[in-house]
Amino acid sequence: MSEADEQPAATATGREIWIEKYRPQGLDDVHGQEAIVERIQSYIDQDDVPHLLFSGPAGVGKTTTATAIAREVYGDEWRGNFLELNASDQRGIDVVRDRIKGFARSSFGGDFRIVFLDEADSLTDSAQAALRRTMEQFSDNTRFILSCNYSSKIIDPIQSRCAVFRFSPLGDEAVAAQIREIAATESIEVTDDGVDAIVYAADGDMRRAINSLQAAATTGDVVDEEAVYAITATARPEEIESMVTDALAGDFTRARSTLDTLLTDIGMAGGDVIDQLHRSVWEFDLEEREAVRLLERIGEADYRIAEGANEQVQLEALLATLALKAV
Ligand SMILES: Nc1ncnc2c1ncn2[C@@H]1O[C@H](COP(=O)(O)OP(=O)(O)OP(=O)(O)O)[C@@H](O)[C@H]1O
Ligand SMILES: [Mg+2]
Repeated sequence: MSEADEQPAATATGREIWIEKYRPQGLDDVHGQEAIVERIQSYIDQDDVPHLLFSGPAGVGKTTTATAIAREVYGDEWRGNFLELNASDQRGIDVVRDRIKGFARSSFGGDFRIVFLDEADSLTDSAQAALRRTMEQFSDNTRFILSCNYSSKIIDPIQSRCAVFRFSPLGDEAVAAQIREIAATESIEVTDDGVDAIVYAADGDMRRAINSLQAAATTGDVVDEEAVYAITATARPEEIESMVTDALAGDFTRARSTLDTLLTDIGMAGGDVIDQLHRSVWEFDLEEREAVRLLERIGEADYRIAEGANEQVQLEALLATLALKAV
């Protein structure tokens, strides 16, 4: 790796940001996405890289995989052959298209260059239609890698021109292994329950896991469960469970006060409480009927909150229906 290769990444205090420091360089270092890595490696080995469409949730390795491809294909010269753009660029699709044109037209040594377009699902259908024409126009010497959260928002003509890869949330083992590795390199002491808490709070998002580790390591000597929950605005699974079981037992007042703690003291967003509830439903010791009833109410509250309803009102109403059925 050349000296100029790495952009310095630093926090306000001058410390390096670990998500950049530990961003996998090669495809081999991308954890937990083995099937995807294997297929992409074979494209590279056969010198036959198609346009690619990556979809999946945040922090699971989409951007990382795209830059790893560029490193594998171009080695040290990867930056000159890799154009990273964000489709949600405020200045609009025309600016994006002009930059792609400028990049694709400028002369260079290799067979093709790579345009990486992040947040491609933020483009309107007509902007995507324009993008599709741009892809066709430059497909001789340019490969596109589009990244998005929802592939269903990408128009069919683009999907059919790309090999589509669906990135899944990372497995607990993959996240735990990476956290232990970074902690060892940084000489940070992390307890087992600390690792578990980071893994739980991250919910498959490696960026969130690494950021939690760094934040917890800054606040104390040992990264344990306490330290992690203190900085991640995540409820402990036990708190979520007691809130639900109290409500189901008819103790609305206690359930509501737990909810209050989550929203006010821990500072959780209502949507995050919903997500945690949803993840845990089957881990609670509930009768199937109760679990089903809870899920139904979670769906309702989730939708209303997404539509802009007051979070606290919706969550209290959720607990209230659980409590009402009990009495
Ligand atoms: N599969 C992975 N293996 C190892 N580290 C990872 C992996 N996925 C993410 N990371 C870590 O998380 C950081 C963010 O990952 P990346 O930028 O690839 O996420 P992304 O999938 O593009 O997310 P977004 O949708 O938010 O753009 C990386 O810098 C890296 O440190
Ligand atoms: Mg990304």
